Amino acid sequence: MSARVAISFQESAVAAQSIKISGVRFSLFLSEATIQTRVAEIGQHLSRTHAGLKPLIIGVLNGSFIFVADLMRSITIPCEIDFCKLSSYRAQRVSSGTVQADLLIASSLAGRHVIVVDDIIDSGLTLHFMLQSMQTLNPESMTVVALLHKKGALKADVQIDHVGFTIPNRFVVGYGLDWHQCCRNLRAIYMLDDEEP
Ligand code: IMP
Ligand code: MG
Repeated sequence: MSARVAISFQESAVAAQSIKISGVRFSLFLSEATIQTRVAEIGQHLSRTHAGLKPLIIGVLNGSFIFVADLMRSITIPCEIDFCKLSSYRAQRVSSGTVQADLLIASSLAGRHVIVVDDIIDSGLTLHFMLQSMQTLNPESMTVVALLHKKGALKADVQIDHVGFTIPNRFVVGYGLDWHQCCRNLRAIYMLDDEEP
């Protein structure tokens, strides 16, 4: 169950320099334009590396839904999409380390060139769990894309092929990323103030 979260920002202030969530201040970290430029770059790159392969994109819900929508539209080759849902977070600001599969991938991965798209790699435990179970489904290749990667937070042995931005080990919200399910609709990414890295 998510806690009640009070957010103070105006609808007209979606590009605000800072926002307050339940009295806690977050500052603008990555602007909408910065994010969009990087997403387009990754999309162009994948269009080249996967030309002629009709890749199957797997978005990791919920956090990646906005990123994967933008990324897919910046890919200029034929591609398909499916989703899976895993959770390692339970209303905390640190990873619980326990991964749970809430929604399994419906598509067959056998012989496919799979592009896994995640919002943020923190401990990497969620991704590690997912990649291991996906490998048993015999994809032809697997490419991992993460919008954000928290530097120094990795606890699992995972290879990330494309990282949008390497960021400090601090809590962020916006562009699909939530705190207690809030703030996913912000177009920019905001970082928690006054927290030791
Ligand atoms: P990991 O298993 O520790 O790598 O956790 C990955 C998942 O935790 C991400 O896909 C997010 O859903 C969530 N997460 C990790 N860091 C943050 C953050 O700073 N803000 C919001 N969600 C986060
Ligand atoms: Mg996630």
